[in-house]
Amino acid sequence: MSRYWLPKGLRSWRGIFFTALTASIVAVVTVSIVSFPSLVEAKKNKLRTEVKPGELDDYYVFESGGHSGEIRVLGVPSMRLLKRIPVFNIDSASGWGITDKSKAMLGGLMVGDTHHVHGSYKDGTYDGKYVWVNDKANSRVARIRLDVMETDSIIKIPHAQGAHGIFPQRYPQTDWVVINSEFRTPLENNGKGNFEDASTYEGVHTIIDAHTMKIVCQIQVPCNLDLAATDYQGKYSFATSYNSEGGATISQMLAKDRDWLVVFNWDAIKAALKKGSYKVVDGVKMIDGHAGTGIAIYIPIPKNPHGVNISPDGKYAVASGKVSPTASVIAIDKLADAFAGKIQPKDCIVAEPQIGLGPLHTTFDGRGNAYTSLFIDSQIVKWNIQKAIDLYQHPKEGGTAVVDRLDIHYQVGHTMASMAETKDADGKFLISLNKISKDRFLNVGPFKPDNDQLVDISGKKMKLILDEPAYAEPHDCIIVRRDLVEPHVKQRFDMDANPDAVHKNSIERNGNHVTVRLTANAPVYGMQDVEVNQGDEVTFIVTNQDEIPDLSHGFCISDYGINFVIAPFQTKKVTFTADKPGIYWIYCTNFCHALHLEMRLRFLVKAKA
Ligand code: CUA
Ligand code: CA
Repeated sequence: MSRYWLPKGLRSWRGIFFTALTASIVAVVTVSIVSFPSLVEAKKNKLRTEVKPGELDDYYVFESGGHSGEIRVLGVPSMRLLKRIPVFNIDSASGWGITDKSKAMLGGLMVGDTHHVHGSYKDGTYDGKYVWVNDKANSRVARIRLDVMETDSIIKIPHAQGAHGIFPQRYPQTDWVVINSEFRTPLENNGKGNFEDASTYEGVHTIIDAHTMKIVCQIQVPCNLDLAATDYQGKYSFATSYNSEGGATISQMLAKDRDWLVVFNWDAIKAALKKGSYKVVDGVKMIDGHAGTGIAIYIPIPKNPHGVNISPDGKYAVASGKVSPTASVIAIDKLADAFAGKIQPKDCIVAEPQIGLGPLHTTFDGRGNAYTSLFIDSQIVKWNIQKAIDLYQHPKEGGTAVVDRLDIHYQVGHTMASMAETKDADGKFLISLNKISKDRFLNVGPFKPDNDQLVDISGKKMKLILDEPAYAEPHDCIIVRRDLVEPHVKQRFDMDANPDAVHKNSIERNGNHVTVRLTANAPVYGMQDVEVNQGDEVTFIVTNQDEIPDLSHGFCISDYGINFVIAPFQTKKVTFTADKPGIYWIYCTNFCHALHLEMRLRFLVKAKA
């Protein structure tokens, strides 16, 4: 419901009218009017839930696109889709996977599976510079520049399959990014060993240098590693493991009642790197993280756990039980004693509240409450962390830490509250990323959209405010305050940061390689004809010389499978073989001018004699 649901003339009278209206409505209470009190609550908290035409959203959402291989940018509270950023996929509009640079970055791979998007940090909150995202399909990590919102680096994670949980260092700033491998394989996965001997399989916790995008080292562990987190002090990283059994089949992986939250000690890792306490495998520093090495501890938690999230006050790691109807709360200030051997790893657990069926991920409002997604119950459950700790110490018959439940539609995976992965968690909005929409939208055939639901968490009760259909498969997201990103975002590229930028049109032949330098300036390209010989290798370098914000051009060569967009002051480069003789019109694909249709030139490929 809009905050301006009252007729305009009544708004100034709303205090009087509210009392009268509420009283009369309570008398004939219906389900649809139950939202009334939370509307009042929302107004009290100045929570904006509507974005009118021409207004801007208060938050950016960076959302993974699952097996589409891309990530997406949305606005909150409107949930409008603002941009799709191709990462591991091929994209015809932007030319991702078609231009030389993006093609080289993808290395011939056509598919990706993006799961977790996380931003760069300074002092526990976002600095607005980058986001990182994993590719579970081909074990890669990409970095996306937020000033232009394009992918600028992709690296392959060695010795890893199912590269899954990812998290940047939060304090003092992001120098490291960690990524877990969910599937164990032999370290030297060359098909020569005994496939059946799963005891030779290992998992790795990989540390990436956030600045250079090079591997710092890998920590070798006996188990698989699922979701990841880092603390707020730059001391620890975390990984859940659901296969402490070391099984290769589902029944083997479900054998034990407890698996692990693995905690990695960054001071110990730095010391090992300094002392040279590692072996080198395929050029990578491999540190032994098995129990007893002082590198990692293994906290036993129930059962096949999934998400691990750190409370915004930095005090607790919360792991979600998945197969167990519980969450496990681990006190981060006890970890040092566990590493020192003064207490057992299990002694770091300070609560294990019963919260519901199928807990997957937990997010926070910064007011001491946790919100956990329940896949099986199709709910978000809100529970109080301190209450859970008190009840763990002093169990009470019928006592519960749960304060509210909200049905969602349907089968929620990740959930994220606004700014919840920072010390500035503001407890305003929560997104429930639901895997199944069933009947929520017009039927579009057997393969249906997912459903991202927006929830107002500013009041005591959670309130569902919006359904947003989404193409396969938004997996996770972060909700970032607009003021942390917007000042960094450019209207145009820095033209001469790209040494290829074209200022003068030219055709240059070197043997059978032809380099064409071309400007684009609405509504003309810098040349009318480009002539080459059949069989030439041709490189087109195209610069958009238009300075006006949002004036992008396209560059499509008919019948040659080449198309990309060039934003203001951007330069892109494409190389291909001119194997088809004839006249091929090159045209602008991005509507730029009244004479957009006339913005074209001839690519003349002279047939071999
Ligand atoms: Cu340039 Cu259309
Ligand atoms: Ca297990």
